[in-house]
Amino acid sequence: MENDWWESKVKEILISENQIEAKVTELADRISDDYRGLNPVVVGVMRGAAIFHADLIRQINLDLSIDYISVSSYGDDTQSSGEVQLLKDLKTALEGQHLILVEDIVDTGLTLSFLTRLLSARQPASLKVCSFLSKPDCRKIDVDIDYLGFEIPDRFVVGYGLDYRQNYRNLPFLAVLHDENDHG
Ligand code: PRP
Repeated sequence: MENDWWESKVKEILISENQIEAKVTELADRISDDYRGLNPVVVGVMRGAAIFHADLIRQINLDLSIDYISVSSYGDDTQSSGEVQLLKDLKTALEGQHLILVEDIVDTGLTLSFLTRLLSARQPASLKVCSFLSKPDCRKIDVDIDYLGFEIPDRFVVGYGLDYRQNYRNLPFLAVLHDENDHG
């Protein structure tokens, strides 16, 4: 049988597909409980959160709307430039809305801090954050994560939306590559 394309590149699977599925269900259940009777706007932060966002919203048992925002601080680099740029804004007017921001990972916290400042100025009724991953050891700025999937150590991870030079986002699990230390 032919090997999967990623087999020679992946050193270790850190979080399996099954673990991810269970966690997404757990987070979605909490959100469904907390927002009962409300109609939140669930915003995915592109591109990394695309996969997590798509899985999460399908497990949330609420009448909700979705939107996307796109920011970049890393470009094709693996180290944060420290400057966050807004690449694509929301279509939704946020005033009076219950906003849930969905991220794939909080690393330095700079992206999330930029986004919460930008979006809370638009006066949503509430703003909460749901992130698939957090690397607490990398934090440069304090940020609140209301719904967190997994805390992970400071290793370069790919898959489930996270990339190395734009590849590997489609891996259905979270992995470390063989040459993880080359990634900064
Ligand atoms: C990644 C990730 C988060 C951010 C987290 O985005 O998706 O948005 O970095 O890092 P921070 O906490 O250090 O700010 P990136 O800019 O790489 O864009 P992408 O989502 O298109 O991969």
